[in-house]
Amino acid sequence: MTIVAADTAAISAAATALRNGDLVVMPTETVYGLAADATNAMAVARIYAAKGRPSFNPLISHISGVEDADRHARLHPVARKLAERFWPGALTLVAPRRPDSPIAELACAGLTSVALRAPAHPVARALIEAAGAPLAAPSANRSGKLSPTQAKHAAEELGDEDIIILDAGPCTLGLESTVVAVGDDGAATLLRPGAISRADIEAVIGPLRRLGATAVPASPGLLESHYAPRARLRLNAATSSVDEVYLAFGLGPSGALNLSRRGDLVEAAANLFAYLRKLDAAGAPVIAVAPIPDEGIGEAINDRLSRAAADR
Ligand code: TXA
Ligand code: MG
Repeated sequence: MTIVAADTAAISAAATALRNGDLVVMPTETVYGLAADATNAMAVARIYAAKGRPSFNPLISHISGVEDADRHARLHPVARKLAERFWPGALTLVAPRRPDSPIAELACAGLTSVALRAPAHPVARALIEAAGAPLAAPSANRSGKLSPTQAKHAAEELGDEDIIILDAGPCTLGLESTVVAVGDDGAATLLRPGAISRADIEAVIGPLRRLGATAVPASPGLLESHYAPRARLRLNAATSSVDEVYLAFGLGPSGALNLSRRGDLVEAAANLFAYLRKLDAAGAPVIAVAPIPDEGIGEAINDRLSRAAADR
């Protein structure tokens, strides 16, 4: 854990760390974020491991602006209007994800939507630019704790991790961004109140839909929203039978897709959603999944697997 003043040299060192798949604590105008290269699934998995999240919440990918957003999401004119009014700034847009977006499936927790925000903070903007990639970043606190608005708060939260913390002083807003989902039909829903008020948003696009009144993707826990495989899942399977495909972990049959042959839980988390989707797309009626140790990020993997097994 190293706190460094966010000058040009520190930003460039942090960008190098990000390109190498390491984590960086980045100041934004809302709260400090725990950032990783959003296109690197292993790096994204490290975020969940560091936060100690018992489940995979979808993360916000931080980008430079609307042109960047168009590479990752389909922005309905309503979403575009919001982006043009509030970006750069404390608005996060959740929109249908383009299938060819390089953002890792894990960053979207396997959803078909993606959360995007162009922050206003000059250090965050410089870091996105220097890293040359969208930066996935949740608030830089351990799961269930308060969002850090100062570099030292982030250091207290993530004490043991070997991470560069870019210190740019206290965050000016100190409150997380407002999260608005805009679907392909242009219906807009407030998913999380935040630094930009509902009234400010409604002044631009008219009344927001009430959460639950629409089928747009919502935050997990609020609505049925996670990607659920078509196939049935059989968990803690030591082997697979003839009518099943096998998703291995650690030592496993050589023909099977393996979440992590070396038994690394962070690697397994990085592969989880993409591999489930791949096996599902191959049309298997049942995916038999090897036992995953319920320790560290393994708890989040097992949480996700048991939801997918129960989703029917
Ligand atoms: O101000 C902020 O938003 C800060 C700074 C660092 O940008 N970030 C932040 O991230 O608060 P986090 O991970 O703590 O909260 C992200 C919120 C969660 O409520 C999550 O469920 C929602 O955004 N979210 C992200 N992707 C989503 C998606 N595809 N669908 C629905 N909700 C999504
Ligand atoms: Mg948070």
